[in-house]
Amino acid sequence: MDFPRECRNPGAMQALGRDLAGELAGGAVVGLDGDLGAGKTEFVKGLAAGMGFGGVVTSPTFTLLHEYEAGARTLYHLDFYRVGHGEEILALGWDELLEEPTGVVVVEWAGKFPELLPPEALRLRVEMQPSGERQLLCDSA
Ligand SMILES: Nc1ncnc2c1ncn2[C@@H]1O[C@H](COP(=O)(O)OP(=O)(O)O)[C@@H](O)[C@H]1O
Ligand SMILES: [Mg+2]
Repeated sequence: MDFPRECRNPGAMQALGRDLAGELAGGAVVGLDGDLGAGKTEFVKGLAAGMGFGGVVTSPTFTLLHEYEAGARTLYHLDFYRVGHGEEILALGWDELLEEPTGVVVVEWAGKFPELLPPEALRLRVEMQPSGERQLLCDSA
């Protein structure tokens, strides 16, 4: 997928998530950053749908981790926004999630604990323009 990408509405953000789904191998880790309301969860909705998940995707702000079964793969959706300490994430079995060969991990507010992400993680950032339009950028090396 090429970056940056313009997003004029939530549907366009979901479409970008669907596009990325086709490019992610098992074991992939995606970190999402951007302000509250930027569209990170919209992006994950598209990602889950693109992987074949037919259910409802909601923000794991309070529950920390949602699991979406998508055919042979599982999408693990986390949100670090309310996490006070990295230990809380490790206690979820974080290391096992990262090692699952059929798992894909996507993390909102990944930049709060960047040291938890493997170096090969795809780091994406949503920027809100004053016009309300969003831009999806890639911060990975
Ligand atoms: N271009 C856009 N891309 C994504 N979301 C948008 C866009 N324009 C408006 N929105 C709205 O902004 C909100 C984004 O919410 P959400 O995806 O939950 O943000 P975040 O997870 O980053 O806090 C949604 O209500 C969505 O409808
Ligand atoms: Mg969100």
